[in-house]
Amino acid sequence: MNKKILVTGGLGFIGSHTTVELQNAGYEVVIIDNLSNSNRDVLDGIERITGMRPAFVEGDCTNINTLHQLFKEHQGISGIINFAASKAVNESVQKPILYYRNNLNILLNLLDLMPTYGVTGFVFSSSCTVYGEPDKNPITEDAPIKKATSPYGATKQICEDIIADVIKSGSPIKAILLRYFNPIGAHPSAEIGELPNGVPQNLVPYLTQAAIGVRKELSVFGDDYNTPDGSCIRDFINVVDLAKAHVAALDRMLENRSESPLEVFNIGTGCGLSVLQLIDAFERANGVKVPHKIVGRRAGDIEQIWADPTRANEVLGWRAEASVDDTMRSAWNWQKRLRERGLM
Ligand code: UD1
Repeated sequence: MNKKILVTGGLGFIGSHTTVELQNAGYEVVIIDNLSNSNRDVLDGIERITGMRPAFVEGDCTNINTLHQLFKEHQGISGIINFAASKAVNESVQKPILYYRNNLNILLNLLDLMPTYGVTGFVFSSSCTVYGEPDKNPITEDAPIKKATSPYGATKQICEDIIADVIKSGSPIKAILLRYFNPIGAHPSAEIGELPNGVPQNLVPYLTQAAIGVRKELSVFGDDYNTPDGSCIRDFINVVDLAKAHVAALDRMLENRSESPLEVFNIGTGCGLSVLQLIDAFERANGVKVPHKIVGRRAGDIEQIWADPTRANEVLGWRAEASVDDTMRSAWNWQKRLRERGLM
């Protein structure tokens, strides 16, 4: 029988791509999503790609009764991948209570119920934001955790600590923390992708909207950083590659290959690319110009960060595979599909 996995926030950007890869790998998926930043049509996209429609519960993981009911109705769940969280850095500064309440309660509820329902494996979506401004790049998992610059970042750090404390307390849970770098792109089929709510805050959705004419031009936040072209450097990771890292993490825990009950992996390409280089890559890959202008720095931005993914490569047996050009093509195809569907 296929192993059953609960994917919280499974209709979101990373959750939907991970559901596809889980189903492709033979897992049975149950999604819970409150549709706060996603919509039901994503289920159709997942079904068109995989030929399978995951079970879907519309509900909020901050409500422990909803989770009790879910575990009773969907017995035999062996692992959870937790994507359900609020994730906009700026919004978190405006609404810290919302961020702490959502992100911490969701985690606490899941960890609390796992032993009751015999769920052993837990994958947590963490972020390179836990490292703050790195002392050196590429950054390894052993680098110091620095004070978070936003409530969103603080929730990621606190959640990592909570998971560690729960495991130390003797809980039967096994967990893997995946520290994502900057996830971008879309499924190559253009059936699923990122659905930004309102004006995009992140680089690639803004870039593709500027390229298609929804936005006048992309603002590049700063060209006076201490980097070769003056713009910030990030490690842009293709979302399908990122999704596959979750499958590798689950396989490892459920096949009892974890070396310790709590493991941490950087999920990035290992290559830093500047904002201006990414714009060039988009234009080259798609033959489409991106109207853009240089503006001042954005408060809170880190100058440069990229991953040392050696541990994920060697221990998880996972590696980023997509080229930047392919990723930029997928982002553009997705933007065009949104236009065809009248969504943009
Ligand atoms: C942030 C978070 C990260 C989170 C990610 C996705 C921090 C430090 N990082 O990453 O944890 O996982 O969002 O939600 O909190 N840029 C422009 N113009 C734009 C938009 C962005 O020039 O219109 C630049 C930014 O200045 C930055 C780069 O593009 O240098 C990437 O920005 P963004 O996509 O927002 O991600 P991060 O801030 O790196």
